[in-house]
Amino acid sequence: MHAPILAPSILAGDHANLAASAAIVEQLGLAWIHLDIMDGHFVPNLSFGPQTVAALRKNSKLFFDVHLMLDEPQRYIEPFAKAGANLISIHIEPAYDHAATLARIQALGCKKGIVLNPGTPAEAIEPYLAQVDLVLVMTVQPGFGGQSFRRDMLPKIAQIDSWRNARALDFRLEVDGGIDLTTAAECRSVGSDTFVAGTSFFSAQDRAAYAAAVAKL
Ligand code: DX5
Ligand code: ZN
Repeated sequence: MHAPILAPSILAGDHANLAASAAIVEQLGLAWIHLDIMDGHFVPNLSFGPQTVAALRKNSKLFFDVHLMLDEPQRYIEPFAKAGANLISIHIEPAYDHAATLARIQALGCKKGIVLNPGTPAEAIEPYLAQVDLVLVMTVQPGFGGQSFRRDMLPKIAQIDSWRNARALDFRLEVDGGIDLTTAAECRSVGSDTFVAGTSFFSAQDRAAYAAAVAKL
């Protein structure tokens, strides 16, 4: 079982000073930060692009966990890889060549992840499990931070974990949306090991205690 990783989502950081928000994460000794990229089509919101990621990269050694919420992610792999992404996750829902896009991510030197929305069954990503470094199960409908955790996603997480065990695969199993210390523990109990937290992390009174609690999950 992988050790737990907390990946704070900079979407809940200070958009007038994202570098300061990334520095908060790095100064706590955390390794990962989650970067949400939205195109206004796949999700009804916009965030930021490769130029912002590249600017953050200049002053950060964090592992950049880039979550592409895009209708045409295949068009943007190279810009995000060049901007300094360490891992790029692509959604299964839009129609494009998923396998070729994952291969392209790897060819550019990044780890690769596949993501599924709450309404998408686990079976949709099953063919890609042997090809990925991470599976991201959305525990809210993506587009906005601060939404409530979808407890009905727990069986899906358990299903993906059971496939991982049965096939002796070692991808990480990440959850994103409405994660706090309570819901992270619920996800951990069914096999999740990587926890994206936006609102709950950046609004925590004691972020060091929050990070320490996730490390003990
Ligand atoms: C949702 C994004 C999440 C978001 C999570 O569209 O993919 O990463 O930042 O935010 P919280 O933790 O506030 O639900
Ligand atoms: Zn995300």
